[in-house]
Amino acid sequence: MELKNLKGKRALVTGGTKGIGKAIADGLAQAGATVIVSARTKPEATPHHFIAADLTDADQVAGLAQEIANTFGGIDILINNVGGLTTPGGGHSALTDAHWQQELNLNLISAIRLDRILLPQMIEQKSGVIIHISSVAGKQALWNLNMAYAVSKAALNSYSKALATELADKGVRVLTVAPGATKTEPMIKFLNDYAISAGITPEEGMKQLMAQTGGIPMGRMAEPEEVAQLVHFLVSPSAAYLTGTIYAIDGGSLPVVA
Ligand SMILES: NC(=O)c1ccc[n+]([C@@H]2O[C@H](COP(=O)([O-])OP(=O)(O)OC[C@H]3O[C@@H](n4cnc5c(N)ncnc54)[C@H](OP(=O)(O)O)[C@@H]3O)[C@@H](O)[C@H]2O)c1
Repeated sequence: MELKNLKGKRALVTGGTKGIGKAIADGLAQAGATVIVSARTKPEATPHHFIAADLTDADQVAGLAQEIANTFGGIDILINNVGGLTTPGGGHSALTDAHWQQELNLNLISAIRLDRILLPQMIEQKSGVIIHISSVAGKQALWNLNMAYAVSKAALNSYSKALATELADKGVRVLTVAPGATKTEPMIKFLNDYAISAGITPEEGMKQLMAQTGGIPMGRMAEPEEVAQLVHFLVSPSAAYLTGTIYAIDGGSLPVVA
């Protein structure tokens, strides 16, 4: 049964044109929300209202917020989904200042900046939900593969918790979702590139990579729609008492209680 529990809600999903963001945008729309998606490139087709913006650029973030204010008068749900692994592996010596700044800008500052600009309206209306899409890497860095990315997601987790505490009595809930390996274009490309460099098949590459983290007990990657269903629940009225918490969705892959 489709649950139309987001009727009348306005939702912005950053990076809502592909992968996890697209699945979240589609899921929120199915639940009755008016959905706005942003990305750098306009997709060939999207059923949602599209606004172009590079979220690593402060002026473009301001432009996105202004267009939302003009067209929709504000938002009720903000999904900070933009992010990704954009820096090389190889550990600390392979990472320059520019790499660190690039990864922090994409995975942390973009969300901080967008929250800051959209929050006054949520606080004024005394309601809103913000989701930060993090990663299990934020709890378990792999030094040789994703050091700067993992650190930027760990910082996002900490920021999200602090913001949730600040806003808890203002009607705005803030939550973090930490996916494990999820079947999207960048993940599939990452596995293919790794397999080619190691001279093995992508399936063997996946097994090798997962062996470094203890494996995925469920034996498969997540589908983007599975992450979207968790996000739908967290932004819904059923989750009214949830704030400040992190939800890993990883088929059991995080090897510790966290
Ligand atoms: N896939 C996984 O296994 C996995 C695991 C854990 C966490 N995550 C997290 O989940 C989120 C989504 O990942 P994904 O795999 O779904 O990625 P994806 O398929 O590459 O989608 C990324 C989306 O963000 C947009 N985007 C990228 N850079 C942007 C920028 N600078 N400004 C504005 N929009 C930008 C892209 O559109 P344009 O390119 O047109 O801008 C696209 O819509 C990320 O935060 C990622 O770290 C993913």
